[in-house]
Amino acid sequence: MRTEQPKVIHLKDYQVPDYLIDETHLTFELYEDRTLVHAQLVMRRNPEAGAGLPPLQLHGQDLELMSLSLNDRALGLGDYQVAEESLTLQPDTASFTLDSTVVIHPESNTALEGLYKSGKMFCTQCEAEGFRKITYYLDRPDVMSTFTTTVSADKQAYPILLSNGNPIASGEEEDGRHWATWEDPFKKPAYLFALVAGDLWCVEDSFTTMSGRDVALRIYVEPENIDKCQHAMDSLKKSMKWDEEAYGREYDLDIFMIVAVNDFNMGAMENKGLNIFNSSAVLARAETATDAAHQRVEAIVAHEYFHNWSGNRVTCRDWFQLSLKEGFTVFRDSQFSADMNSPTVKRVEDVSYLRTHQFAEDAGPMAHSVRPESFIEISNFYTLTVYEKGAEVVRMIQTLLGEEGFRKGSDLYFERHDGQAVTVDDFVKAMEDANGADLTQFKRWYSQAGTPRLAVSERYDAAAKTYSLTFRQSCPPTPGQSEKLPFVIPVSLGLLDGQGREIPLRLQDEDAAVGTTRVLAVEQAEQTFTFVEVPEQPLPSLLRGFSAPVKLEFPYSRDQLMFLMQHDSDGFNRWEAGQQLSVQVLQEMIGQHQRGEALQLDQRLVTALRSLLEDERLDPAMVAEMLSLPSEAYLTEISEVADVDAIHAARDFARQGIATALFDLFWKRYQANREVSRQTPYVAEASHFARRALQNIALSYLMLSGKSEVVAACVEQFDQADNMTERLTALAVLVNSNFETERQQALDAFAEHFKDNPLVMDQWFSVQAGNTQPGGLERVQHLMQHPAFTLKNPNKVRALIGAFANQNLVNFHRADGAGYRFLADQVIVLNKLNPQIASRLLAPLTRWRKYDAARQGLMKAELERILAAGELSSDVYEVVSKSLA
Ligand code: ARG
Ligand code: ZN
Repeated sequence: MRTEQPKVIHLKDYQVPDYLIDETHLTFELYEDRTLVHAQLVMRRNPEAGAGLPPLQLHGQDLELMSLSLNDRALGLGDYQVAEESLTLQPDTASFTLDSTVVIHPESNTALEGLYKSGKMFCTQCEAEGFRKITYYLDRPDVMSTFTTTVSADKQAYPILLSNGNPIASGEEEDGRHWATWEDPFKKPAYLFALVAGDLWCVEDSFTTMSGRDVALRIYVEPENIDKCQHAMDSLKKSMKWDEEAYGREYDLDIFMIVAVNDFNMGAMENKGLNIFNSSAVLARAETATDAAHQRVEAIVAHEYFHNWSGNRVTCRDWFQLSLKEGFTVFRDSQFSADMNSPTVKRVEDVSYLRTHQFAEDAGPMAHSVRPESFIEISNFYTLTVYEKGAEVVRMIQTLLGEEGFRKGSDLYFERHDGQAVTVDDFVKAMEDANGADLTQFKRWYSQAGTPRLAVSERYDAAAKTYSLTFRQSCPPTPGQSEKLPFVIPVSLGLLDGQGREIPLRLQDEDAAVGTTRVLAVEQAEQTFTFVEVPEQPLPSLLRGFSAPVKLEFPYSRDQLMFLMQHDSDGFNRWEAGQQLSVQVLQEMIGQHQRGEALQLDQRLVTALRSLLEDERLDPAMVAEMLSLPSEAYLTEISEVADVDAIHAARDFARQGIATALFDLFWKRYQANREVSRQTPYVAEASHFARRALQNIALSYLMLSGKSEVVAACVEQFDQADNMTERLTALAVLVNSNFETERQQALDAFAEHFKDNPLVMDQWFSVQAGNTQPGGLERVQHLMQHPAFTLKNPNKVRALIGAFANQNLVNFHRADGAGYRFLADQVIVLNKLNPQIASRLLAPLTRWRKYDAARQGLMKAELERILAAGELSSDVYEVVSKSLA
């Protein structure tokens, strides 16, 4: 807990460390009521830091120091100073060995940072600054050391003892205890340290690397989960192979381990050779995890594995460079997922997510650049901007340099910086050097926050057969950045003729046409490109594949959007045209609702969706994506002032209208797909995901009809399905329906059947938290009393409270402010228990500027109440104070 005024840390103040740590030797003695940590650090003066021997200041937090010695000489009280977050002493030689012993209390660590207990097992989470809660250290990523780690514990309770690297020794002690020693030969920063002790079972496999080395692969879980590891293991092997093929990256240790823990603040952590995962990101089998969960497991296993190179072998110099590893690694895992599944579906999902959530962050009080300039609490900067927008920035580099040029750049980056802690500039420099490119202006994507707008206008000259596109870019002000300079915006585009055919693209000053899709780099505030030999007025297909994270504005008519939906050769843009059509139609209805008029659904949307459903040759996954109307959260993001009730009413009315008009088609496709599902055993593979996606979205529309044969089909699917994807959708649509008896029966049966599976119970909580019918808050408050709920488990908090505040917008934003008050109450409690979770949970309140004056007042009042509650963690303090500034 913060007792002093929080310090702001600035990128511009970065200085190299005064001292380095070459070797770290740790011994942990784990007991039920305390843990002893002995650290021996082999240190020396950093030659790059200048002359003389300045005082050595080590980081440390919540440590009880038992003994300290320098070069084997015990230090007394006068020899060092201990403060709340540091220990300072004066070395007398340039090279020295420092030994310390501290006592820590993992058994009462509810923040889940440092060493803590999850259920009966010990585990660690050190990124970003958790290692300082384990021992006194230079806890910064540019201090890299080899580690040996010995763990001792009671053998019966903790038969498995793990740390980074390779196991080198183990043994028994007389008192029922045992020990194991691990050695990690690769230098690493302390944030990549990991330790696990517990009664774990493992699934074992192996992988032969491209140079022919055998690597043992192990996934450790609690015994009851041993049957849910195969999908993660398959994903791991695919990831290892893919990284060799796509990036030439080979694994480097003899063993790679994943451990699943139930209590974890994030998705997973890439500790060297010993990844620690939220169990929700490892465990998956048909009966208990949805298709989406299977894909999430595959993506996160890949993400953490890819960090072995983009993060571990080449790491960050300081935490302002976080996107160096996270943006790049998200980009890598998105390429992998696209290769393993459907590239267009993956792109649609990523873009929807970015535009709904990252754009909202970019427009809010916590907006920051991909490389932030300052922070109070680094944990608050593991954001959509650093991760998802960071990945888009890397993607734009690839778009500008081409796939081959990008690969040359990444090869040079890994070769040049292996074993180093580097910056975003080093990454971009490698890309430049490998390609002879100049990315100076492009780098503004790393330093300027906010989502650029790109307004496009066209002019066709029939006589000259020229077609000009004029691009005007601007970027709204964000905190601390009122003026923005032009970005380099890669715009991938094509031109369609009246028959929907692609027109060859030849720019003025070119000798011949160059393809039918090309990338224009818009670099100026206003810039015009003219195409020649354009035989007729074309329809532009702009920003294909979403080639830049901007808000594109082009005055498409609804008929033009319908034309693009049918004819665009770019699959992403066909979806995008459908989204824009839906947005236009929904915005019109939102206006009608606000004026008190009767809602009218533009039948062109129905016509467009009908032709999708009729065409059985289309990819069912894309049809399902196109049938999904823009979410309420996205409609909120694109509103000037979001009218929660109008958005909800308009979207509901449109869904009802579509359901009625297309009932027969939905019913036909539903029954056909459900029949295949009945006949085919579950497979976690793209074509099966696609079939179930269409089947399930059809069911959700069909249930709006209230027809008894549909309800019967839904109950049948709920009862008989052999997989969670079908069962959970059936449950969700029943929960959101008026069929009281069926709903209650399904909820009870589900809870009874899955009461011992916490991850499945999370889904049960989420489905109910998302029920948009009146009374949502009371239902959530009631569910908090359920024996399976606890505020101490982050997954539970996210599943119930997080889902309510982020997905059930009509209930969360109810006009009397009770939803806001409820959320603030939970934040105040969690601030003491788990600051990282508290700070994340409060994000919806920070978006107050989006709402009407009355709601703004109520939301701000709750932020002020949190601030006044006092004893705020730096995590919560930073977000609340910046939101009120
Ligand atoms: N590096 C981890 C990843 O794979 C996330 C660590 C999150 N740590 C935190 N303090 N928020 O993305
Ligand atoms: Zn990561």
